[in-house]
Amino acid sequence: MALSIAFVLLSVALPLVAAAPSACTGTISSMSDVAAAVKCTTVNINAFTVPAGETFNLSLEDGTTVNMLGDVTFGEKNWDGPLFQVSGDSITFNGNGHTFNGNGPFYWDGQGGNGGVTKPAPMMKIKISGTFTNVKVLNSPERAFSVSNPGPLTISKITVDNSLGDQPNANSGGKAAGHNTDGFDASTTDLTIEDSTVMNQDDCLAINKGSNIVFQRNTCSGGHGISIGSIASGATVNGVVISGNTVTNSDQALRIKTDSDATSASVTNVTYSGNTGSGLRQFGVLIDQSYPDTLGTPGTGCIVSDINFTGSKTTLTVNSGAERVAVNCGKGSCTGTWNWADLSVSGGSAGKIVNFSGISGFTQ
Ligand SMILES: *[C@@H]1O[C@H](CO)[C@@H](O)[C@H](O)[C@H]1NC(C)=O
Ligand SMILES: *[C@@H]1O[C@H](CO)[C@@H](O)[C@H](O)[C@H]1NC(C)=O
Ligand SMILES: *[C@@H]1O[C@H](CO)[C@@H](O)[C@H](O)[C@H]1NC(C)=O
Ligand SMILES: *[C@@H]1O[C@H](CO)[C@@H](O)[C@H](O)[C@H]1NC(C)=O
Repeated sequence: MALSIAFVLLSVALPLVAAAPSACTGTISSMSDVAAAVKCTTVNINAFTVPAGETFNLSLEDGTTVNMLGDVTFGEKNWDGPLFQVSGDSITFNGNGHTFNGNGPFYWDGQGGNGGVTKPAPMMKIKISGTFTNVKVLNSPERAFSVSNPGPLTISKITVDNSLGDQPNANSGGKAAGHNTDGFDASTTDLTIEDSTVMNQDDCLAINKGSNIVFQRNTCSGGHGISIGSIASGATVNGVVISGNTVTNSDQALRIKTDSDATSASVTNVTYSGNTGSGLRQFGVLIDQSYPDTLGTPGTGCIVSDINFTGSKTTLTVNSGAERVAVNCGKGSCTGTWNWADLSVSGGSAGKIVNFSGISGFTQ
């Protein structure tokens, strides 16, 4: 009796409950497989080509595991993108070393986002919490990753290889064909990026706003190094750790750039530890409140404070002709005491420290 009542109650109640994600395995071998596959909490991606002008968009159930089992290539078309987007909570994304190929050479004209043909950007839009690992991104048309995680996310063992874009092509007027090819753009909180490699022509990492961001044990080459900024009006950055990275053959190793016209903005609580750099063409460290100028007239609307080189030694070697450390602050907008005891820069010439006398433990 009790059993049969329970059974009746269950069979009445069940249809009212939203369909739970299914423990099935979905397999994607073409875009027409996506809608059904994302209803499963295991999604396998086989090698295929995404037709030009479409976003490969995975809107996943919470807790889904994604396994790449082959390489994904994107068709060529002048449109805004993104080429790939993934969203969901507590996702485990295993690239297994497979490649997303953006076919950059079709788009590259040395102008990036500043002109020329329309380029899909970002190429990869990551909107998950959980882990995203072991993925290769080859030849992004413009910016590679844009990250806006809804909860804690660790990105690891990524390779962004835009090194081919260092060469001029028929459309780039003798300049490097790849341009604005940022590795990771992050305006977010609770993000770790580690053990990854970026070969490109712009920022390896650019943090535009956010908090609790760790960037560790990565290798950056060819571009503009590891950046906080550019910082625009209203943006705040608090709590960044940049540690154990290697930056080579880049404009600078470490930079904070704030817009000269920014208001109500701040950058605080940043720790650099145990980084190395060499082949630095313009600066070792650049902190500049005159962006988009370099060492132009600084603004005063972004307060920069608590910027330290501590923990273990950061050792940079700049090229002859480059400046070791340049700090260009607006009057009163760099504040407090910055402990730079664990910074060592050699080569080039000293560089200027303007409108700020709070750096301790370091002399050029
Ligand atoms: C991806 O799919 C989600 C969920 O359907 C949708 O909200 C979003 O607009 C799509 N994004 C793109 C770029 O297609
Ligand atoms: C500094 O950032 C860390 C995270 O990196 C955070 O835990 C800490 O609370 C921040 N300190 C202040 C004073 O905001
Ligand atoms: C940076 O160094 C200053 C001066 O020693 C110290 O007061 C501050 O707490 C340090 N900040 C961080 C984020 O370590
Ligand atoms: C100090 O900052 C002010 C802006 O607040 C700027 O006009 C001035 O040029 C700076 N000083 C130097 C020596 O650059």
